[in-house]
Amino acid sequence: MLTNPNGKEENPVADARFAESLGGEEYDDLLLALDFYQEFQEESGKALAQYIKEHCAGQVEVKVLEAGPGTGITTLQILKADPRVKVVSVDNESKMLEVVKSKFGGSEEYKDRSEFVLADILEYLESCPDGSFDAFVSVYTLHNFTPDFRKKVISVIARKLKSGGIFINGDKYSRDVKGHKQDLDGEFRNYEKFDSEAAKAEEAGDIGRAEHFRQIKEDWTKHTWEDDVNQITVEEQDEMFRELGFKDVNWLKRFDLVITVTAIKE
Ligand SMILES: C[S@@+](CC[C@H](N)C(=O)[O-])C[C@H]1O[C@@H](n2cnc3c(N)ncnc32)[C@H](O)[C@@H]1O
Repeated sequence: MLTNPNGKEENPVADARFAESLGGEEYDDLLLALDFYQEFQEESGKALAQYIKEHCAGQVEVKVLEAGPGTGITTLQILKADPRVKVVSVDNESKMLEVVKSKFGGSEEYKDRSEFVLADILEYLESCPDGSFDAFVSVYTLHNFTPDFRKKVISVIARKLKSGGIFINGDKYSRDVKGHKQDLDGEFRNYEKFDSEAAKAEEAGDIGRAEHFRQIKEDWTKHTWEDDVNQITVEEQDEMFRELGFKDVNWLKRFDLVITVTAIKE
């Protein structure tokens, strides 16, 4: 097992990791390693669809704010949840935003219902009127934040959601110390699939592609260790929700380190 090279130091709030080998279109190579990726993303879409069905019957439009669209995998689930959804997706990495903009900008079905903004999520949230969103959705983004920054962001989301609005986050949450170690080991085992992809590429004579897979295995392993200093448990998130004025907290299906949580703004 590897040891965390970063000790207990916190990550910077916004770093350039998605500007390098894990960013842009290459981000989607992660789907080769994580078998559950699609199902996990669909959990957020289904939770949003169910909320809209039950709570937005008379509305012409359902306003959703997304933090960290990356290449748009979660954005697609948000848009598919209901035809009345209008989503504003905010990412602070231009390489990611270029990919997602070109994907949805060229789509007849989605281009008028999606807007992409290059900004830090906290700065963007502060610029919005209070109570202006029906839903906040984010997958694999908030775990990149330091504990203080995450709490600050969630406290501002609480203000910007309308009363009765929904918070949906699919992300890394620890069960407990022992469970976290097992889940983290599981995540690293998943990255071994990059070795099989490298071997396949080598067999096909594509040495460049084989090297690419070896490199991203190393980079995702490093990235995962870096994220690990920002750990949060299910219990700590429950406590934060209570403190920040959310109710009806619901934890969905766990896939190794990640799980989707929904909560309603009082
Ligand atoms: C791991 S990707 C997740 C992409 C997508 N939601 C998914 O699940 O595949 C996280 C994204 O969050 C963005 N991000 C990180 N910190 C941010 C911040 N402070 N404000 C806005 N976006 C941020 C990164 O640039 C990256 O595109």
